[in-house]
Amino acid sequence: MSLRWFVLLFWGGLQFACQGTSGEIGPEATSPETSAVAQTAQQVEEGEPESPSQPVLSYTLRKGKQVYDRYCAVCHGAEGQGDGFNAYNLNPRPRDFTEPGFLSALSDEWLLEVIRQGGRGVKRSVLMPSYENTLSEAQMRDVVDYLRYLSQSGASRK
Ligand code: HEC
Repeated sequence: MSLRWFVLLFWGGLQFACQGTSGEIGPEATSPETSAVAQTAQQVEEGEPESPSQPVLSYTLRKGKQVYDRYCAVCHGAEGQGDGFNAYNLNPRPRDFTEPGFLSALSDEWLLEVIRQGGRGVKRSVLMPSYENTLSEAQMRDVVDYLRYLSQSGASRK
């Protein structure tokens, strides 16, 4: 092969190679990247979608729920129906707080007294413990609010 042919072929090849790459450097080449950034920004703005099945509780009720779930649910049941894990060993069994009319007939003062002194202090079953030394006055009030919430939301499901 002569040198002239070689140069011509080389030049042709170079031209072909340049054409091949130039097509990629257009606005289309960057668009998938930019749209991904835009999508992420949109997701951050909208946040996680809320689950419609979980009611949003007030701050007080959330604090009350924390106390209830930790100390009371084991006997009184997660929904206050008197069916906690421990309830089957208790005689008398805890009452169903969602029974219409039961909790609404009891005053806040009475409920606080039962929680503070336990069953023994108010001449009820000794199986209802005293929380005088465990819970603060504020926590007892929060849990009373939560009992009322459980009672109302449970009764409305019946
Ligand atoms: C070891 C099991 C147990 C735990 C834990 C427990 N209770 Fe009770 N509770 C009982 C029993 C049993 C009764 C029924 C007493 C009776 O009727 O004589 C009762 C009764 C009650 C009553 C009804 C009082 C009435 O006038 O009938 C309330 C209100 C109550 N508990 C609130 C609570 C709260 C709030 C907590 C958590 C801070 C709690 N209990 C934790 C066993 C428990």
